Amino acid sequence: MRRLALSLGIAALGCDGAGAEAVPAPVAAAQPVEPVPAAAPADPAAIGGWLRASGYRDWPAQSRVHATSEHGGARVFFNETLAASMRAGTGEHPIGSAAVRELYEGDLVTLRGFAVMLKLRASGPGGEGWLWYEQFGTDAGAKRLVAGTGERGCVGCHDAGIDFVHPPEPG
Ligand code: HEC
Repeated sequence: MRRLALSLGIAALGCDGAGAEAVPAPVAAAQPVEPVPAAAPADPAAIGGWLRASGYRDWPAQSRVHATSEHGGARVFFNETLAASMRAGTGEHPIGSAAVRELYEGDLVTLRGFAVMLKLRASGPGGEGWLWYEQFGTDAGAKRLVAGTGERGCVGCHDAGIDFVHPPEPG
């Protein structure tokens, strides 16, 4: 956990400045208007395309793919909103927090799918404020397994985390 907090910190250092744009702050009229990358699409139908476009790839992330207890591999990305909240040790993460877990085959190289969570509103006791999404496959025909708020199959494990977010496994 300590190691991971550190690796998040390091990842965030690399993103200095760039991370600020993930914070949904009002843009002053005088400033040039830059497109603010959304945390992740709130519409599950749009998430597959967003994943294919690697919208999350510049987020603070675990340094590499690591083996998981599910006999595969994973690499977790946190958007800056969530990474900052985790670094601060916040018990409740801000709305707009998002994470992507890339799912790999046992070879730790072949990407086989994604799990995504996005906080849309206050979490609630059953994680109903979070959008939970999982797909197997990486192309346009990928099979969407889960897409909805408060998905019990996800929450059953994630309610052990801090505001439903697990501290990432070493990696
Ligand atoms: C068996 C328990 C379990 C279930 C069920 C589960 N997860 Fe997770 N999830 C974990 C653990 C443990 C981690 C931390 C893993 C890591 O570091 O690789 C994690 C990490 C994640 C992350 C990265 C953010 C975080 O909390 O670290 C996302 C996103 C995620 N899971 C989405 C989902 C979705 C969507 C579902 C339902 C389809 C789901 N998970 C079901 C255990 C579970």
